[in-house]
Amino acid sequence: MKAKVQFYCTECGNELPKWAGQCPACHAWNTITERPAESKRKAAGSSMSVSMRESGRTSLRLPKQMKEIEATHELRFETGMSELDRVLGGGAVKGSLVLVGGAPGIGKSTLMLQICDHLCRFSKVLYVSGEESERQIKLRAERLQIHSDGLYLLSETNLEEVVEAVNSLNPDILIIDSIQTLYNGDLSTAPGSVGQVKECTMTLMQLAKGSGVTIFVIGHVNKEGSIAGPKVLEHMVDCVLYFEGEQQMAYRILRAAKNRFGATNEIGVFEMADHGLSEVPNPSEMLLDGRPQDTPGTCVTCVMEGVRPVLAEVQALLAPTSFNVPRRTSNGFDFNRAVLLLAVLEKRGGLMVSTCDAYINVIGGLSLEEPAADLAMIMALASSFRDKPIPNDLAAIGEVGLTGELRSVSALGQRLSEVRRMGFTKCLIPARSSGTLSIPDGLQLIRVKNIREALAAIL
Ligand code: TYD
Ligand code: MG
Repeated sequence: MKAKVQFYCTECGNELPKWAGQCPACHAWNTITERPAESKRKAAGSSMSVSMRESGRTSLRLPKQMKEIEATHELRFETGMSELDRVLGGGAVKGSLVLVGGAPGIGKSTLMLQICDHLCRFSKVLYVSGEESERQIKLRAERLQIHSDGLYLLSETNLEEVVEAVNSLNPDILIIDSIQTLYNGDLSTAPGSVGQVKECTMTLMQLAKGSGVTIFVIGHVNKEGSIAGPKVLEHMVDCVLYFEGEQQMAYRILRAAKNRFGATNEIGVFEMADHGLSEVPNPSEMLLDGRPQDTPGTCVTCVMEGVRPVLAEVQALLAPTSFNVPRRTSNGFDFNRAVLLLAVLEKRGGLMVSTCDAYINVIGGLSLEEPAADLAMIMALASSFRDKPIPNDLAAIGEVGLTGELRSVSALGQRLSEVRRMGFTKCLIPARSSGTLSIPDGLQLIRVKNIREALAAIL
């Protein structure tokens, strides 16, 4: 890209690519000023408003009564990956713009390329990459065993060229990899800056709404929380999906942060293998894989991820502290909640945990946000403190209050079925649970009123 002349000297008219204190031509000080970049769109917009004013006619659209508006159901199509479809709310909506965010190397390009395989069978797909050449994409596609005729590749970073390509090819689905490499030549800032990513996303959004093309946009999130990342785009797009997971681990979790066409509490679980991502339809099994047996400091709970119950293993390690203030770290479990539970355990459970450092971890890169995991955390902490294992076939479900009492949780029946399905035979639950409960065969329920009772019953 040729550097745009943006600055000029008001004395001699000398043009500069960047600001300087002194003009290198006439040596005058403080004469360099910025030339406002003439935006094509702005120019077009202003001429239109002039012509509208001249003709004395405005094309103002009047508000309509809701009942006058014809409702057509959104058209959905499946992406060929049911885990992704579920997160999208039952397939992708035609003409929508979906942002797929995630850390570099997590597998966003791989996921998009893999869905192309299915999408190509019934539609025309254009994959635009600003990060890899067409050959590189082809090589990757071959490795993923995608040999589709309906897939078009374009290695391009200029937004105008991309829009032109879309207009001439007329694809049903457009994939942009990634938004940070795309730039609009009208803006002087570098690709990846806040202005550029917003501008490019806006243009793509107009393209999606105007021509009905479904667009998937990949956006990188960096570890620092990224300023020019997907966060600044969330309000513009229809769906925001985040692809999470530890790079060292094979498991990846796809989560919807925003969805204009469905719920946001679903997760999709994938596994990265030699031949790309494969779906994990049974996450509980995966999350419990390799669970230590007869070991203190671990307990299994069941949390609801959307409408799906998922078993998770929480681990705690308590060790005598050598500091004045004991250390607490928490991974996958809200830190403040963990500190609160430690205080409840000390005051209501009678365990002197304030003399110990506490390390808390949730296995499998899962982050537990539900209070239903409280009881399992208390049990894991107490088990580590007393150095006594919790029975291998026991799961614990329940919210813990500040007085140490156990509160009932939603969807208990569903959770219990999942617990039983995964081979557990005992489950610790709050004494009072709302509604009638159908207890799965072979599952023994241990009902407790507070954490003291829970500790007495198990440890
Ligand atoms: P990629 O999709 O390029 O990540 P992103 O687009 O999010 O930056 O995935 C890159 C990682 O995935 C890389 O570390 C290698 C790994 N990978 C596999 O393990 N198996 C595969 O078949 C593929 C294609 C990638
Ligand atoms: Mg990539």
